[in-house]
Amino acid sequence: MTGALGKLRLGVNIDHVATVRNARGGAYPDPLRAALLAEAAGADGITAHLREDRRHIGDADIEALTDGLSVPLNFEMAATDEMQAIALRYRPHAVCIVPEKREERTTEGGLEVAREENRLAHFIGPLREAGCRVSIFIAADRPQVEAAARIGGQVIELHTGAYCDFHAEGRTQERDAELDRLRDMAVYAHDLGLEVHAGHGLTYDTVQPVAAFPQVMELNIGHFLIGEAIFRGLKDAIREMRRLMDAARG
Ligand code: PXP
Repeated sequence: MTGALGKLRLGVNIDHVATVRNARGGAYPDPLRAALLAEAAGADGITAHLREDRRHIGDADIEALTDGLSVPLNFEMAATDEMQAIALRYRPHAVCIVPEKREERTTEGGLEVAREENRLAHFIGPLREAGCRVSIFIAADRPQVEAAARIGGQVIELHTGAYCDFHAEGRTQERDAELDRLRDMAVYAHDLGLEVHAGHGLTYDTVQPVAAFPQVMELNIGHFLIGEAIFRGLKDAIREMRRLMDAARG
C-alpha cells in the first residue's frame, strides 16, 4: 500500500509532568495545565497512564483531564478490574490496554494477547459497549497482531521501544531490522482491518521513519517531549515534533 491514509495524529503523554509533581508532593507542575498547553501546541489527543501504584498520574488527574480537555483522552491502563471500573466511570474517548509490572520503570514490552485471548476478549467487551475505542499495545509480532484482531480490538499500538533503544545504543542493524518488523506489522494489521498506532521512546531522531508508515494513524509520545520542554518549553517541543512528523508524512 502506498500513499498516506490520513493525517497522522499526535497524542501527547503527560505522565511525566505528574512524575515531577510527585517527586515533591503537592500540586506543581499540574498535568492538566501541561495538557492544555499541548492542545494549544497542536496535540490531537492527550494520553495518560493510570498505573496500579499511582506513581505518576493519580485518580484526580483523570477526573481533571476528563473535565478540562477539548481533545480526546487516551486512557492507558492494565487489564484489571479496578482499571476497568475507572474507565467505565469516566468513559474516555480511547482506552489503551498495556501490560504492567510493578517493578518495571516503564512499560517494557507489549501485551501477551495471544496467551490471554479469552480473558482479554471478555475484558474489553464492556469498554467497547461503553463507547471507548479500544487499543491494544503490542510488540511487532504477527501472532499478537492476529490475536488483537480476534479479541475485537479496534486499534493496535505498536511498541517502538526496542527500535528506539537499538538506535540509542548505536546498534543500527538491529534497529533497522526492528523498523522492518514494525513496517510489516503495520501493513499486516491494516490489512486485517485494524487501525494502527505506534509509540514508546520516540524522539526527534527516531520519529520520522515511523511517521512515514502510511498505515500509522497516531503516535503517542511523552517522556522525550516532557524532557525537551525543560530546555525549550513544552509548546515549542511539541511543535517541533509535529513539524518532523508532518515532514516525514509529506
Ligand atoms: N504508548 C504507550 C502504550 C505507552 O505505555 C507509553 C508510555 O507510557 C507511550 C506510548 C509513550 O512512551 P514515551 O513516554 O516513552 O514517549
